[in-house]
Order: sequence, then C-alpha cells, then structure tokens
Amino acid sequence: MARAPSLTATYEAAPNIALVKYWGVRDRARAIPYNSSISVTLDRLRSRTTVRFDPALKDDEVELNGEAATGGPRTSVVRFLDRVRELAHVTYAAQVRSENNFPTASGLASSASGFAALAGAATSALGLDLSGRQLSQLARFGSGSAARSVFGGFVEWRAGVHSDGSDCYARPLYGPDHWPALVDVVLIVRAAPVKTVRSEDAMQATVATSPTYRRRLSELPARIRKIRAAIGARDARHLFPLVMEECDSFREVCETTRPSLDYLTTTTRALLAEVRSINREAGRPVAAYTHDAGAHLHVFTLARDAPKVRRRLGNVPGVERTSILHPGPGGRRIA
Ligand code: DP6
Repeated sequence: MARAPSLTATYEAAPNIALVKYWGVRDRARAIPYNSSISVTLDRLRSRTTVRFDPALKDDEVELNGEAATGGPRTSVVRFLDRVRELAHVTYAAQVRSENNFPTASGLASSASGFAALAGAATSALGLDLSGRQLSQLARFGSGSAARSVFGGFVEWRAGVHSDGSDCYARPLYGPDHWPALVDVVLIVRAAPVKTVRSEDAMQATVATSPTYRRRLSELPARIRKIRAAIGARDARHLFPLVMEECDSFREVCETTRPSLDYLTTTTRALLAEVRSINREAGRPVAAYTHDAGAHLHVFTLARDAPKVRRRLGNVPGVERTSILHPGPGGRRIA
C-alpha cells in the first residue's frame, strides 16, 4: 500500500536568466507563451520553500522572507495552491514559508525560483510524484519563467503547437557542468526603479501595441536554433552576438509598446555601451549583455576574460555591486 503523504515538504530552486526571452502569452488560461525561450539556471542564489498542508487550518498562511504576504503576492500563491489541491483532490489549507538567499529588492527575479520551489514543495507535500516535465508544466502557471527553473544548467521552455498546452513544457538542454568556462558577471545598478506593471501584464501590452512584435516572433525560430547550437558547441564567438541581438530585440519591443516600457537606468545604458566598446576594442565578442524586465545587467563572458570585464564594468558610475555566477543546479527536494 502506498504510504500516506506527510503533508509537508521543503524544496529549493534557483533563478534563471533568459538568453531568449519569454515575452507574450498566447493563451492566458493555459499559460501558453507565443514563443519558446532559453535560459541559464544560476548557482548560489535560491528560493527555499516549505509547504505544510494542515486539515485543521482554516485559511492559507503565506510568509515570504519572514513577513506575512498580502495583496497580489498572496493571491498568486493561493491561486497556485488551488491548482495543486485540485490535482491532488484535497481541500486542506496550507502554511507556506518561502525565503530567498538574495534580496528581493536587488531586482534579481525571484518569481521564477519562488514558483519553481512552490510547485516542488506543494506537490511533494501531497505525495504527487510529478516528473520534471510535469513540474515545469505546473510551475508556469505561477510565473512563466518558473517553468525553466525546475531544471539546472541550460534550459529550453518549448511553447509547443497544441492548443491544449500538452506540448508546452521546459526541458534541460545541457546540464550545469556543460560549459565550465562560461561566467555570468551580474551588475547590480543603483536606484533601479521598482516595477510598476507586472511582467504578465506588460508583455500583453507589447503584444497588443508594439508594431515590431510580429517581426520579433518571426525572427525567433532561427535565432533559437542558432543559440541552441552555439551553446551545444560551447561557441562563445557565435553565442555572444546572438544573445545581444536577442536582448536588443526584447528591448525594442518593450520600448515600442504604448505606453513605452523602459526598464533601464542611465547606468544600464552606459553598461551596454561599455560592453560594445570592450568587444569592438578586442575585435572579437568578449562579452554579451542581457537584461530582463529590470535595470540590472547580466554579462556573459569566459572565465579568462571575467576579471577584466568585471573590473571595467564595475567602474561604470552607478554600479553598486558586481558578482560572478555560473550555471547551477535545478530544483530539488531537501526535506
Ligand atoms: C523578461 O515569468 O516573470 O524575464 O509570468 O508574469 O511572472 P510572469 O512573468 P515572468 O516573465 C519573464 C520575462 C522576462 C523574460 C524571461 O525570463 O524569459
């Protein structure tokens, strides 16, 4: 006889940075994106989430980084728990505790790691033994990018073609040890504006109003194929220009959204220019920038170039902190 689930579990998952951006939802009810995306799951940073279902509890209790969650953040967690309860055919309320080992205010996206960890913890607590693929299919309902944080290393979230979303899931392309020389220099900029529009809503404004969104979509299949191949071949010379081209395309559709979405600060723009200068001076692609819907910058480079790239970019006025990250492990149950 199967053992009764313990009703409690703790799960860890890390944030990821997209090399090909998810931006636009085709089907909101099924959380199906317009395009496939590719990301790197990062090491050292993590969300750790404990979920305890309790038949005696009246209402869900959600604590994020030591404080009771309210409003939007609480609602997203409760809705997500509802989905898991439905899957497991239970109605118990739950106590959720989630902590990040990096400041949420640092602007490094915590929704991907948070919802990947919540998906893992809640399903494990209820004894639902989901595969990585199934977990990614569930996690995307919390936050699209969370589908990718289920796995470590280099990950592709396939949009799929079926209208029921059955072929919309993330899959690992290469593990965290695939390319040991690849380094992510993270630049935290001062006075990064706090997001006023949720990504989920902002991207739909882009779909509806950006005159260049359709062109971006038509360019993506070829770019994705090339990026996948360059990662596979550990080919920085090809990968780095493609990563910047993709980031520029993402920024263009944001800026041409009405009203315009501008996530960058003067410092971020100075950093983009500095990366271009570094590459121009070297006569080869030494580094590649990419940013999400925020002002902080990720700059990929190779280990041998990392110290000088870090030094040079760290000297740009307005940079508060730099850190060096690498591809890291996927989500896992720790208790
Ligand atoms: C620019 O996954 O954070 O980071 O589904 O609203 O939570 P929600 O959106 P989210 O959007 C990610 C947008 C992005 C690109 C990416 O990570 O692919």
